[in-house]
Amino acid sequence: MSLAFGHIHSPTTDSLYSSNKWLPNAPVNPRMTGIAKLTTVDATPSGVTSVRLLSKADAAAAVVASTGCTTEDAERESVFVVYESGKRVIISSLGSTLDKVDIGGLRKTVGSAVAKLKSLKAKEASFLVPSIDGVSLAKVAEVIAHSATLHNYAFDKYLTGDKVPVLLENIYLSFESVASSGEVAAAKEAARVQAVLSESVIFCRDLGNDRADELHPEKLEQVARAVANEMGAQIHVVKGQELVDQGLHLLAAVGQCARYPPRYIEIFHKGDPEHPEDVLMVLGKGITYDTGGLNIKGTGFMENMHMDMCGSAASLSSALACYRLGVKRNIVFVVAVAENAIGSLAYKPKSIIKSHKGLTVEIGNTDAEGRLVLADALSLCQQRHKPHTIIDMATLTGACIIALGEYAAGLFTNNAALSAALVKAGEKRGERLHPMPIFPEHREEIKSSSMSDLVSTGAGRYGGACTAAAFLENFIGGTPAKNSRVATGGEDGASKDEAGKTPAWAHIDLAGPAMYSKTRGFMPEGSTGFAVQTIYEYVIAAPAGALPEDEKKRF
Ligand code: BES
Ligand code: ZN
Ligand code: ZN
Repeated sequence: MSLAFGHIHSPTTDSLYSSNKWLPNAPVNPRMTGIAKLTTVDATPSGVTSVRLLSKADAAAAVVASTGCTTEDAERESVFVVYESGKRVIISSLGSTLDKVDIGGLRKTVGSAVAKLKSLKAKEASFLVPSIDGVSLAKVAEVIAHSATLHNYAFDKYLTGDKVPVLLENIYLSFESVASSGEVAAAKEAARVQAVLSESVIFCRDLGNDRADELHPEKLEQVARAVANEMGAQIHVVKGQELVDQGLHLLAAVGQCARYPPRYIEIFHKGDPEHPEDVLMVLGKGITYDTGGLNIKGTGFMENMHMDMCGSAASLSSALACYRLGVKRNIVFVVAVAENAIGSLAYKPKSIIKSHKGLTVEIGNTDAEGRLVLADALSLCQQRHKPHTIIDMATLTGACIIALGEYAAGLFTNNAALSAALVKAGEKRGERLHPMPIFPEHREEIKSSSMSDLVSTGAGRYGGACTAAAFLENFIGGTPAKNSRVATGGEDGASKDEAGKTPAWAHIDLAGPAMYSKTRGFMPEGSTGFAVQTIYEYVIAAPAGALPEDEKKRF
């Protein structure tokens, strides 16, 4: 029996890239935005290259047996191509004994095999799932599926001819070398879930990697519509005069100079209609290009800013994953979309702008645009849906990359349980989130103006990731006011809603891990698709309903 899942051509993703205004005659690469189809099988289909993941000793022995080389030679490389009864077999060494191998080692071994298959221009491969003592077969299968699908990626939309890489179109996970047991069914299911997740990650990567003249705010709305369409979900878009009429002046200001105007977009996944009060919000920063505005970025700092919408790509992609995997939670996926362009119509440093919540904001620097679009989106969505939990994702600050490198996202929360659960969800799926603080002094910097309620930036460059988070915190909880004089809450920055409750909130600054300067393992150079899997893992693992608020310590 074989179970096929994953879509080589997804109905959602295929339709999005059928045209390219810059390269109208370029052939549309048939694999573009697709993903290898992952199939679980009980035996490797005939004619398909099999991949064996073996302990160091077993790998060397297998290589010696089929090539006649010395053990020393066989141990020199970690991947070998051998022929057994005329069939091509890849031997990939785990580099240790089976009982010593860890998750990183298994991922790496699979990755080396995928690289070898790519160099052989193989279109199909069958990975034999090994049984590893002390680890469930489901986890082993999940890790192999994860690593194989996510290593098998290239942003090939703009490649032609020989430069188009040959990637795997079919990946099999074969259970022929493990005793058939109850564990196999669970392992096949874990692989199926991972295949769908990987497809969403690749969708996210493709969106992040596409260039800003192609993927501008209007196109991003089309993408969101295609996503909502596949989900059969309601989509709500606010743009043009409506933005102004509804008071989203911050979002309007950031996008006011761009050829394609800004917009607020919301897709509601209603996975649990019986519990309408269980609502989560997942928001992404969607700056399709960040020039910095009038505080223009210099050369060397602007180039990668087509990826400044990776938060929104993660929001849309996790929406797709939640739908395709049938997540039984109510989740509002929101994207705040604008291009931070430069020109005579651009918003200006020191402008004072009234937010949707009613708080007035003095613009400290037009390059700190992400927090502005997020602020209005947080406020409008809370007014519309009263989520008990809010997660925002944004390539928000260079300061966060300075703090953590590209190795982790900064995680700012007002709720210890949410923080711990997100860190755990990330760990499970190979994404690192690191807790970061908001100190009272960061909050003070944001409230330091005598002419406006808030300023958009901290006093200087120090602690820039934290002051950005401190700014956002003002838009959690509380109801938007008709006038600008609204209490900004107690010393925790956030204000309470009518019921006296502040939603649990997490801000994920993914400026580092969402956009890689070079390939590292299963994370490719450029847009990595970071956070999609964490969001899925969090929403399925977290208990339904509001999390308890943190207790305030007085002493
Ligand atoms: N999009 C940038 C942050 C960024 C920088 C993401 C580098 C990825 C790589 C953001 O809009 C920005 O420019 N932030 C400024 C804020 C500052 C002006 C207060 C920053 O981080 O320098
Ligand atoms: Zn910026
Ligand atoms: Zn930005």
